[in-house]
Amino acid sequence: MKSKIKKLFLKTYGCQMNVFDSERIEESLINFGIKKVYEEQNSDLIILNTCHIREKAAEKVYSELGRFRKLKQKNPKLKIGVIGCVAQAEGQEIIERSKIVDMVLGPQVYHKLPEIISKIESNEKVVDTDFPLEDKFEKLNLTKKDKRNSTAFLTIQEGCDKFCSFCVVPYTRGAERSRSPEVVIKEANELVNSGVKEITLLGQNVNAYNCLNEKNKSIDFTSLIKILCKLNDLKRLRFVTSHPRDMTENLINLFGQEEKLMPYLHLPIQSGSNQILKKMNRGHTVEYYLDIISKLKLIRPEIAISGDFIVGFPGETEEDFQKTLEICEIIKYSQAYSFKYSPRTGTPSFEMNDISEKVKSYRLSKLQETISIYQREFQKNLVGTVQDVLIEKLGKLSDQYIGRTPYMNPVVIESKNNQIGKILPVKICETNGLSLSGEHVI
Ligand code: 5AD
Ligand code: SF4
Repeated sequence: MKSKIKKLFLKTYGCQMNVFDSERIEESLINFGIKKVYEEQNSDLIILNTCHIREKAAEKVYSELGRFRKLKQKNPKLKIGVIGCVAQAEGQEIIERSKIVDMVLGPQVYHKLPEIISKIESNEKVVDTDFPLEDKFEKLNLTKKDKRNSTAFLTIQEGCDKFCSFCVVPYTRGAERSRSPEVVIKEANELVNSGVKEITLLGQNVNAYNCLNEKNKSIDFTSLIKILCKLNDLKRLRFVTSHPRDMTENLINLFGQEEKLMPYLHLPIQSGSNQILKKMNRGHTVEYYLDIISKLKLIRPEIAISGDFIVGFPGETEEDFQKTLEICEIIKYSQAYSFKYSPRTGTPSFEMNDISEKVKSYRLSKLQETISIYQREFQKNLVGTVQDVLIEKLGKLSDQYIGRTPYMNPVVIESKNNQIGKILPVKICETNGLSLSGEHVI
């Protein structure tokens, strides 16, 4: 079945899971004669794949929709869809607030898109925020790519059962579900056969992965990593995002056993104060987190640790905040993301007393200063060393290439030859605090 709609403009917000979903949507719609375009004015279908994690991210949707009103006036045949986490959280309300929207789809129904697109073509409005049992990716009829980039994401798990008191994910992405090991292995094989050298396994709680295989044997995250590391042409494996509660001894030990598992772990702690962690319902203490990190460092001393922090959670005192700064000093994160607490409707902490914007802003800038000290220090320590760099893409200037160290730091090198997809030994010469530059050594 071919669609009357031919040109899709798809804009993605938020996490890597959304990026992965958007790419699969584009690959599947090719089969219906719908091609991706890069300018919204040039499209007959605009889709916003949205993020609901913080208020700012969610509000962007409505300002974008405001802009599209004019486009729709000029071209009444233009169809507009809102998908992803804002769609899941707000459903029908989006159409009521913005009449130009034709479809609202939650993250678990993308396999129904062809059918839904033909409905909106005949001017029906569609809202679908179901959580069907089937694997949406398996049901999507994807166009196989002959050649891919050197790195790729692969979603293996979705949803979250942890219910941190500030977080919308358990409501927008639903309960934890893992994709079947056979399907994951098949997709990893396809990626590797089309030139991918590094796979990053994705999941909201990726290390909670657990699924029965066809022989009814339970495959946990550690077993899955071991199987994937056996793929000959796969050179590097990473995963994101992990929860401290699911960092099993086996998983920690794997960092000392599997060379392909890169020495980098994104492990959010959110706060350095036990009082706040408790209110956040994180299910772990600072001591528990530090114990994981020291075990990891014993097994793989050079491992780079990254994390997420929230400042200004309800009830966070100056003393609690100082404890967050102390954690940064102890862990010496190679990089970290930090956010001001954003109250989200429907989450337990929404009912708690929010603290002032001024205090949040002050704490955020102080925390970011501290994080950047250790990020710079991490990069400086690499200057003078030789690192294996996987070259991912061209740089801004001619003969420039950009790749990553095993620790995820971006590195710029110069070369006259096409180096994309190669893992090169690179002597790190300089750092500007954000990225490194180096020379290919033979
Ligand atoms: N406010 C601010 N930051 C949040 N995060 C999740 N929910 C909120 C919220 N309500 C942050 C957490 C999480 C990251 C993806 O986003 O740090 O790890
Ligand atoms: Fe949100 Fe907590 Fe689940 Fe992470 S672990 S997705 S912060 S509820």
